[in-house]
Amino acid sequence: MGSSGVAPPTVGPHLACIMDGNGRWAKRRGLPRTAGHTAGEEALAMTVRNAAQRGVGWLTVFGFSTENWVRPASEVRHILDLHRKLFGRIKDLNDNNVRVNWIGRPFDEPGSRTPNAIQKAIAQAIDDTKHNTGMMLTVAFDYGSRAEITRAARRAAEHNEPISVATLAAELYDSRLPPVDLLVRTSGESRISNFLLWQSTSARVYFTDCSWPDFDAQQLDQALALLRRSPA
Ligand code: IPE
Ligand code: IPE
Ligand code: MG
Repeated sequence: MGSSGVAPPTVGPHLACIMDGNGRWAKRRGLPRTAGHTAGEEALAMTVRNAAQRGVGWLTVFGFSTENWVRPASEVRHILDLHRKLFGRIKDLNDNNVRVNWIGRPFDEPGSRTPNAIQKAIAQAIDDTKHNTGMMLTVAFDYGSRAEITRAARRAAEHNEPISVATLAAELYDSRLPPVDLLVRTSGESRISNFLLWQSTSARVYFTDCSWPDFDAQQLDQALALLRRSPA
């Protein structure tokens, strides 16, 4: 789905976010984990606006991993509903000139677990925002880097291509994604958790104790400040 058609934005850094800590945020408040996810979706909507207004060219967020399906069914359902909410924020996205994009296990391939309703919401959001020319918001849903890279190698082999950096890069879920400039993970964990491993080889990495639902404009500015530091 990712590689269809429209020209990518040419300016602005690529920011990738592992949005972690929703459950702990809720627990600290005596709330169910689902309340943390609800607050996390709002933080994401705000971060999309803030990032677009700060000239970020590409924002790629980890919405749901290939490993997250083992969570309790009620929590998974709630997270899926929140993705529908996110993909339905069309006015907000258009007001900020943001294009929606998605990466994850392709719907028609073995192993894909994305329910129909989410597939439709993703397709609709991509279509409803395809004329925008600003920031590209890529939501990683049912995404894992190992699945992505393994599939890329399989496809290169099937196409009788030599295995090289260039041929694998061309077979990733969305070959338009530029290298990640800044990778952020919230909530105190210093792990990458199978996110954009190929694309993040030269990324700066920013770990913060801030929980994702508390990730606001000030937090974003602190993270983006890393990009202004000169190389060591
Ligand atoms: C991140 O928050 C959201 C998803 C993984 C979908 P968590 O749900 O992982 O929250 P913690 O890490 O348990 O606090
Ligand atoms: C990473 O968070 C996945 C998403 C943010 C969607 P997790 O909370 O699932 O990661 P681990 O398993 O604790 O590393
Ligand atoms: Mg977590």
